[in-house]
Amino acid sequence: TADTIGLTIDARKPGAVINKDIYGQFAEHLGTGIYEGMWVGPKSKIPNTKGWRNDVVGALKAMHVPLVRWPGGCFADEYHWKDGIGPREKRPVKVNTNWGGVEESNAVGTHEFFDLVDLLGADAYVNGNLGTGSAQEMSEWVEYLTSDSKSTLANLRRKNGRDKPFKVAYFAIGNEAWGCGGNMTPEHYADLYKNVETFLRAPQQYRPKMIASGGNDNDVSWSEVLSKQLKRQTDGISFHYYTIPTGKWEVKGAATGFPEKEWMSTMSNTLRMEDHIRKNSAAMDKNDPEKKLGLFVDEWGTWYDVEKGTNAGFLFQQNTLRDAVVAALNFNIFHAHADRVRMTNIAQMVNVLQSMIITDKDKMVLTPTYHAFEMYVPFQGAASLPLTLSNNPQYALDGASVPEISASAARGTDGKLYLALVNTNPAQAADVAINVPGQAIKAVKGRVLTAAAMDAHNTFQAPQAIKPAPFSATAVEGKLTVKIPAKAVIVVAVE
Ligand code: AHR
Repeated sequence: TADTIGLTIDARKPGAVINKDIYGQFAEHLGTGIYEGMWVGPKSKIPNTKGWRNDVVGALKAMHVPLVRWPGGCFADEYHWKDGIGPREKRPVKVNTNWGGVEESNAVGTHEFFDLVDLLGADAYVNGNLGTGSAQEMSEWVEYLTSDSKSTLANLRRKNGRDKPFKVAYFAIGNEAWGCGGNMTPEHYADLYKNVETFLRAPQQYRPKMIASGGNDNDVSWSEVLSKQLKRQTDGISFHYYTIPTGKWEVKGAATGFPEKEWMSTMSNTLRMEDHIRKNSAAMDKNDPEKKLGLFVDEWGTWYDVEKGTNAGFLFQQNTLRDAVVAALNFNIFHAHADRVRMTNIAQMVNVLQSMIITDKDKMVLTPTYHAFEMYVPFQGAASLPLTLSNNPQYALDGASVPEISASAARGTDGKLYLALVNTNPAQAADVAINVPGQAIKAVKGRVLTAAAMDAHNTFQAPQAIKPAPFSATAVEGKLTVKIPAKAVIVVAVE
């Protein structure tokens, strides 16, 4: 019909591989993100393995977490790794100055973190301390983590329970150097980075990818300066962008009970990620046309006002269908830029900002964002495929508008063709006619995530209020049209 949207996938032209690390997570020492939410200690009544909650670890494993970034965030630039090794009862208690001024017991340190990633079957991304640390402190951490020698530090690691070096996939030198990481200029940071990186020596087979901490929001100067200055000493530059409904830090907007106006502004603000990636990639292209460097979006997601009655420093917020739609829109953007965006970390994994899981004592619930991540698993390591949308209307409200449908396709590692579709319109379903030149499509089969309310969410009383449901459509007379419900995320295999 005239209203039908056209979607053509060119399955004959696979593009860049979607790195599994695009689906990375972030676990900072912040609020109950680590303590309580994941770490309860080996003596807890809550069933755990080496101190990590079995329920939470099991759920995270089921969503195939490929990578975890730790220990911050802003926390990283005040974290001294030697506080977090050796007998736990002897570790110093510090103040978490960034996040609520609460006590930091250092119960979770290097070995505990690697227990967690081992339990998850994930890779590790360790963020070093440039702010209050030194080249020596970081260099010793890298030696402790990666040396297979009989050096004193490597032997200390053995004494603390780990014989072989840890596998560190990524190591970042500082975080948000423009802000909480030290209020620097990109030029000053670049000089410090070059100095520190020189001394981060790891055996070749254990060498992490080195990350330079980059810019945020509209500021591309960091990508410009760092891609020029650090080309030979880094594997990539990070970038942070958070989606705030009102666009204002003072009053960000509520996680639930929001008006449609804030649904719209959340959609339009999150879609700015595309423009940010384009601009940063273009800046990097000038100095790195071969795209050797990655653009690592190592913090992204929604940031709302904290829930009433909670510690403002804990960044605790509910998570609704709107968050799942935000996640899927960002995945589609990352896939389209898979040649440059090779790793990202959503903020954050448990109980903080746009989390996968919310816990309360021994209970946990999976959020709609969890379901979006888990539905998109077939895209991990898949080859992105070009697609075109035609006749795609705008969803408009009060002068603002965004494209109604966002889509992404890829050839999975299992050889199947996968398609993800998102409908940003909270009130209207959309018909999409799917066409794969050279292939007669018989059906699409997969799952849909949607609900009646824009702010549908799971609670401890109703933990399954929103979850994916089976979804399929079959071709009629060789033509396949999919009806995408309002405010929905769909992932299907195309047969
Ligand atoms: O994710 C919360 C905080 O946001 C991080 O610690 C910091 O890097 C960013 O400002």
